[in-house]
Amino acid sequence: MTSDPTLAELAGRVAADRDRPAYGHDALITCDRLVRVFTADGVEVQALQGLDLLVREGELMALVGASGSGKSTLMNILAGLDTPTAGAARVAGRDLLTMTARDRLAYRREVVGFVWQQTSRNLLPYLTSAQNVALPMQLAGRRGNRARSGRRARAERALELLELLEVADCRDRRPHQMSGGQQQRVAIAVALAGDPSVLLADEPTGELDSHTAEQIFAAFRTANERLGTTIVIVTHDQAVAGEVRRTVAIRDGRTSTEVLRRSEVDAATGHETVVAREYAMLDRAGRLQLPAEYTKALNMRDRVALELEPDHIAVRPDDSEGR
Ligand SMILES: Nc1ncnc2c1ncn2[C@@H]1O[C@H](COP(=O)(O)OP(=O)(O)O)[C@@H](O)[C@H]1O
Ligand SMILES: [Mg+2]
Repeated sequence: MTSDPTLAELAGRVAADRDRPAYGHDALITCDRLVRVFTADGVEVQALQGLDLLVREGELMALVGASGSGKSTLMNILAGLDTPTAGAARVAGRDLLTMTARDRLAYRREVVGFVWQQTSRNLLPYLTSAQNVALPMQLAGRRGNRARSGRRARAERALELLELLEVADCRDRRPHQMSGGQQQRVAIAVALAGDPSVLLADEPTGELDSHTAEQIFAAFRTANERLGTTIVIVTHDQAVAGEVRRTVAIRDGRTSTEVLRRSEVDAATGHETVVAREYAMLDRAGRLQLPAEYTKALNMRDRVALELEPDHIAVRPDDSEGR
């Protein structure tokens, strides 16, 4: 029989808990049991059901998931356009649940940049590319807290960004004079114009053919590598998702599995191969979501058998029948 812990032991445990760094304390984006419930015509839809996600500074990651799994709901919250029902969400030290309307406006201008799927939503139709990119800088300059207040400096910076994204030749064109791919690259330049900590993109290649989608993806990579911007891209495109180091899958309003890729160089041949490995998120209650294809393959349902091994936990089909 085990004896009850002494008071000193309990106090020790409480202290150890207190000293443990808080969940996500060193992440740029922290979502902790994020919930978003929509009520439409008296019917409740739980778009996010306790979603956990950490994104570190400088990451370029993809979010994938079936239609209706909550991806856009999450992006709208991170963009400061929608407020969560419960849970916690922090981006670059800002608390997205307690922000005032004024903080929210500043947050959208200074902390995040976004690129949407509909090319028409990203650019103002009556402005040229250069003017579209200069506009966020002009708005920031008007508040007087940015160095880029001069018209000349803004025009130079706009051209630099268009060059970085390889659309400098489109500088004097209006959106309708450009292809969808060119418009999205200009849109990325606009999103980067305010020097955001985070760039969010919700299916930015959804309206483009796969070749153009690849080019847009290369543009995001350039922005990530050259400017160090943290980037989160929602995508349907498996090929695109395969290009990033980290892909997180959302299922039913929660993060389910995650694929990490790293390149390995064969010492003998010098060949570089990308090794991908699947991970699952263990929540703080110890819950784990197994990929459906794994459980289906072994016909697992309801109850499964668990065994603790020295270096892993085995999950087997229920073998209790007939014992
Ligand atoms: N404004 C809203 N009002 C009611 N239901 C919504 C609203 N926005 C999203 N939903 C619902 O929330 C769920 C998740 O939607 P969404 O985040 O758009 O998914 P995804 O982007 O992954 O396709 C869906 O069931 C959708 O119908
Ligand atoms: Mg969506």
